[in-house]
Amino acid sequence: MDVNKLSETAKALVAPKKGILAADESSNTIKKRFDSINVESTESNRKSYREMLFQTEGISKFISGVILFDETIRQKSSDGESLVSILSKQGILPGIKVDSGAKPLSGTENETITEGLDGLRERLQEYYELGAKFTKWRAVINIGNEEPSDYAIKTNAHALARFAALSQEANLVPIVEPEVLMDGSHSIEKCYEVTNITLREVYYELYNQKVELEGTLLKPNMVIPGKDSNDSSNPSEIAKYTVKCLMDCVPASVPGIVFLSGGQSDDEATINLHHINVIAKKLQTPWELSFSYGRGLQSAPLKTWLGNQDNILLAQKAFHSRAKDTSAARNGSFL
Ligand code: 13P
Repeated sequence: MDVNKLSETAKALVAPKKGILAADESSNTIKKRFDSINVESTESNRKSYREMLFQTEGISKFISGVILFDETIRQKSSDGESLVSILSKQGILPGIKVDSGAKPLSGTENETITEGLDGLRERLQEYYELGAKFTKWRAVINIGNEEPSDYAIKTNAHALARFAALSQEANLVPIVEPEVLMDGSHSIEKCYEVTNITLREVYYELYNQKVELEGTLLKPNMVIPGKDSNDSSNPSEIAKYTVKCLMDCVPASVPGIVFLSGGQSDDEATINLHHINVIAKKLQTPWELSFSYGRGLQSAPLKTWLGNQDNILLAQKAFHSRAKDTSAARNGSFL
């Protein structure tokens, strides 16, 4: 393992004004996204859609890396060029989602454990050879009356650290994603409490399993009230809670924190990120605070594309505009 190289890659992913596009939707998730625009989820439609995003002119000004799905890292464009090469030529780092999804956690009613550790060492080697520079693993923590259990937090944190250690062994920067879901009617204080406990457990496991933090990135949720809650916390309160939580839990040796958008509207994802960076600048936080958005970058281009090749330029314009705004927010200069 080359820790200096890992640290260089992690820093490049959170370079000034830049962040990550998460385009690693699993087959089920991309089908849901395509269903919403009445497009069939065929291999060729998935390729055309992602090729459209990756070929957007000027996008490397805002996007440092793209997280791919197993199918995408092997795909070639209509001109026969690999999608990985399209990204690399623009200086965009290709990454890969390596978990195989959140499955029911036995002994619980509705909690999950993320699977995918079996055979991971071999798969990582193959992804490295295919050009990947970084990896992602998403653990899901949900808030309910009785949830999350200590058991769900601990097993997921343990698996995240196993994934991170194996990724570093393969010279791939792990993006560690413990997502506390927005679903539910909980308050912002509850989200703060659960995110805090979860992150502490994750860093405890990363430390135990000898993960070099300078060669990692954290991908957390923002600290935000549940989707169905009456809590009317404003963006500046969301930003205060989020930065306080991260200051409490994330070691200074982590180079960057890249938020997920988690189902927030485009405006929310942008404005909250802006306020987070405004506070972070004042407090001189030790890490970069950037983005690794899926829906927050793709909703607009997806709705413009509609599966029609004639809409490519307009969809690329929509993607460019979302990436530009999110980059400004990541710099604390959107508003
Ligand atoms: P969202 O930004 O849509 O939450 O997706 C990010 C992601 O990669 C989830 O794993």
